[in-house]
Amino acid sequence: MKIIRAKDYKDMSRKAANIISAQVIMKPDAVLGLATGGTPVGTYAQLVEWHKKGDIDFSGVTTINLDEYRGLPRGHKQSYWHFMQVHFFQHINIREDHIFVPDGSNLDKEEACLEYDRIIQRVGGIDLQLLGIGMDGHIGFNEPGEVFKLGTHCVTLTESTIEANMRFFHNREDVPRQAYTMGIQAIMQAGKVLMIVNGEHKAQIIQRAFAGVVTPKIPASILQLHPNFILIGDEAALSKMDM
Ligand code: GLP
Repeated sequence: MKIIRAKDYKDMSRKAANIISAQVIMKPDAVLGLATGGTPVGTYAQLVEWHKKGDIDFSGVTTINLDEYRGLPRGHKQSYWHFMQVHFFQHINIREDHIFVPDGSNLDKEEACLEYDRIIQRVGGIDLQLLGIGMDGHIGFNEPGEVFKLGTHCVTLTESTIEANMRFFHNREDVPRQAYTMGIQAIMQAGKVLMIVNGEHKAQIIQRAFAGVVTPKIPASILQLHPNFILIGDEAALSKMDM
């Protein structure tokens, strides 16, 4: 595990964008695993800026997003598909048929999850996986539980996650209760895993996940075992890490 300290959100975003950009330069047909949430917005903005300057070419890149709300079709304003279009895909030269997000409109859980695992296999797995972390230690939507769930699966979101994601919806009732998420196996098999985190509110979960035991009760903790895991945090988020 490599921990990189960033001065602030902007610095964290630039450092993450640098690593992603290096990946794409080294391997123009790279498979990038991507995340939603507030944290990666600055990273995407930085990548877009460099793309517009002519520094990064996404024409050969494939993207596999971590998760999607079950029941939200692509066109829905709160879908992760839409989020990714607005913050990233619309502004770069990625091919539409190289973009993958779990199909939230498919209510058949088994089929939707199997289909996504097949896609991950077909593209040959993930070269670099970008992650944020939820307040309860979730990655993607892998929520705390008794076991690590390996494949893509349907989750019922925890109260804490519904609470945290409320800010993107009009009210609590509008937050979908279920989501499809990539499982722990595809994340752990990624060549490189890059987690970004900022803010004092994340300091405690970062300490529990990365300075404590590996347990499915804190899903992110398994990343301690990944051979190429990079954590970039701002001062506040890393304030409880004793280093
Ligand atoms: C959501 C996403 C996660 C993300 C988390 C944290 O639950 N499914 O992938 O890491 O939110 O979001 P934020 O970065 O806004 O704190």
